[in-house]
Amino acid sequence: MAFETLLVDVQGRIARLTINRPDKLNALNLQCVTELGQAFLELKQRDDVDVVIVTGAGEKAFVAGADIAEFATLDDKKGVEFARRGQAVFESIAHLGKPVIAAVNGFALGGGCELAMACHIRIASEKAKLGQPEVNLGIIPGYGGTQRLTHLVGVGKAFELVLTAAPIDAAEALRIGLVNQVVPAAELMATAQAMATVIASKAQPAVRHALAAVNATLEKPLAEGLRLEAELFGKCCATADAAEGRKAFLEKRKPNFTGR
Ligand code: COA
Repeated sequence: MAFETLLVDVQGRIARLTINRPDKLNALNLQCVTELGQAFLELKQRDDVDVVIVTGAGEKAFVAGADIAEFATLDDKKGVEFARRGQAVFESIAHLGKPVIAAVNGFALGGGCELAMACHIRIASEKAKLGQPEVNLGIIPGYGGTQRLTHLVGVGKAFELVLTAAPIDAAEALRIGLVNQVVPAAELMATAQAMATVIASKAQPAVRHALAAVNATLEKPLAEGLRLEAELFGKCCATADAAEGRKAFLEKRKPNFTGR
């Protein structure tokens, strides 16, 4: 997997994907969005990857937004296509079927905040700043921000963040539920890695089904979501890993999961 705007490194069933345009604060240009789509497709298909960590290169930014330099050519039709392209890539992250952890190492603004929100878990450095500053530019969030932000922090806070365009610091992001955890900058990657290692040690069919069931809350009414949960629960029960999990508990030992 060789990309111009991304670095991908796989070790011990955990992939680290780094947005690598540090001189532009890792702003997502179209090439980067395209490569993100390709990289996540490959990561989905790789049998040696259970968990993905996404971060930004350099000290300053996770991702400082979509690349504003590319906005000049957009009209209403191209604007729709631009947003749909980014949304599709971010949807492919949310529905990867493998957990994706955002290690938010600095500015996560606009498309950067939207990228972090498309991931399943967000761990932020104390230095992180998050926000949706699009209205400063005369636009609105277009890579899923209006939907995912509202789901994560509620309607009132989503309106405030989107309408004022004001960024918030990591502590406030934690307080309102936009990030899961805040750690000192020096501990960010180790914390993300430790969480990824914990998740990778679990029964992967159960992890996959849990992702699908929780994702359904974004798309389905409760009755349908409950039906799906029951179906996926049933699928888990039929796995070798569920048999091993039960057996290991009764034998008072650690389970040896095989991912089947
Ligand atoms: N798109 C394109 N380029 C960007 C960018 C973006 N979203 N964010 C930062 N950059 C570029 C800057 O243009 C600059 O490039 P240059 O060195 O060639 O001039 C470089 O990254 C460094 O950014 P700079 O603004 O000098 O850093 P700073 O520390 O002074 O400010 C920010 C940091 C994040 C506050 C500021 O870069 C910013 O406001 N970025 C835009 C955020 C935004 O509106 N995102 C949503 C877009 S929809």
